[in-house]
Amino acid sequence: MKRVKIADVLKSTQYDIDVLVKGWVRTRRGNKMVSFIALNDGSVIHNLQIVVDNDKFEDDLLKKITTGSAIGVVGKLVQSQGKGQNVEIQAFSIEVYGTADVDTYPLQKKGHSLEFLREIAHLRPRTNTFGAVFRIRHNMAIAIHDFFHKKGFFYFHTPIITASDCEGAGQMFQVTTKNLYDLKKDANGSIIYDDDFFGKQASLTVSGQLEGELAATALGAIYTFGPTFRAENSNTPRHLAEFWMIEPEVAFNDIEDNMNLAEEFIKYCVQWALDNCRDDIQFLNDMFDKELVARLESVLKDAFVRLPYTEGIKILEEAVAKGHKFEFPVFWGADLASEHERYLVEEHFKKPVILTDYPKEIKAFYMKQNDDGKTVRAMDVLFPKIGEIIGGSEREADYDKLLARINELNIPMKDMWWYLDTRRFGTCPHSGFGLGFERLLLFVTGMANIRDVIPFPRTPKNAEF
Ligand code: 4AD
Ligand code: MG
Repeated sequence: MKRVKIADVLKSTQYDIDVLVKGWVRTRRGNKMVSFIALNDGSVIHNLQIVVDNDKFEDDLLKKITTGSAIGVVGKLVQSQGKGQNVEIQAFSIEVYGTADVDTYPLQKKGHSLEFLREIAHLRPRTNTFGAVFRIRHNMAIAIHDFFHKKGFFYFHTPIITASDCEGAGQMFQVTTKNLYDLKKDANGSIIYDDDFFGKQASLTVSGQLEGELAATALGAIYTFGPTFRAENSNTPRHLAEFWMIEPEVAFNDIEDNMNLAEEFIKYCVQWALDNCRDDIQFLNDMFDKELVARLESVLKDAFVRLPYTEGIKILEEAVAKGHKFEFPVFWGADLASEHERYLVEEHFKKPVILTDYPKEIKAFYMKQNDDGKTVRAMDVLFPKIGEIIGGSEREADYDKLLARINELNIPMKDMWWYLDTRRFGTCPHSGFGLGFERLLLFVTGMANIRDVIPFPRTPKNAEF
């Protein structure tokens, strides 16, 4: 007999047919005569009720059916008399694949804290909450590919191991096969990499953008979607050392086109979530965040506010003057903290904000320089509850200006020659941005901590599992 997934069983409009289902027992309750098993197979948030006539089964078998055990059930699918479900299965035969000891299986009781569940990240996908989060995670990945594919963008694979620091922030994890106990050094005490695997210092990428630009100036419009790594020592609910990023890059797009693309893209993803993950989102709404569905619907409604950084700073300074307390100082030139970003979005405008034209000192070397000599054509998309969800810019297309900035910032030229070639041969205006996949998931799931939207979070002092 072919196994049917519970998601399909629950949608069935046919009754009194025999089916085979397999999954993990969430609970078993009942009395001497009859047992009710709540079975979940991960395909959907809902459990399937299995009704067991105890007389028809050996006691030894029934004893093994405890929370967490894996079983297969053949039975008749019938309309349910009980509350809470439309259908249930009257069991004919049950096979126990694997037992789960009542005293040691950690997911016995409901209502574990998210902190505790992080310590058992190998088992937490079996909870309703993480089942929902990871099904949504999958669906958002599909939404992203769907959006770009339909628009004629090409999915381009940029390297994970790289010798260049895209964001220039020096937050890279080194990749080496050298014996760290016996490093060869030159007269100045610098490590010699000649005999290392790549023959030079190599790291895990912080962004696929630089290679993405090469592709955009050939294929026209591309996007990357892959893991990125940042060795920043920030233990916050919004930072991971390993996260996934989506980076579209488009030839001939200016910053205006870039903002339009970002807004359309993120709205498409949110709409997709509402259309395709309704049960999971409703569960998270009811369990954790009563405003979740309303917040998702609200970002779809309005056009995002578009505002230069300088105007944003004015608004924040006015707030301070009126007595609003921020932890970090506000002044022109300051890098905005998430409290500032969230003030603009949640308190002032009450909708998403795209902040543009940041001071060049707080942005990366590759951004197009404005005529004022002070700002660059950057754009950050700021979201309720999250702060920065997207960072992007129009790129500096002028060879001389770009080279001058690279020199100003002392970026080693030997790593950048190939990037500069895009500006030497057929340079053109182009723009792109990066969306942090887990930041999007924070928004869509309403979860408060980024560690709870990626299966196995990597953060400072934590690489378990
Ligand atoms: O603003 P960032 O650093 O921009 C770039 O990397 C550009 N190269 C993107 C581009 O223009 N192609 O990062 C982009 C986004 C942020 O807005 C944020 O959503 C996410 O990546 N992000 C992180 N997410 C989780 N943990 C971290 N440590 C993150 N750092 C950035
Ligand atoms: Mg940024």
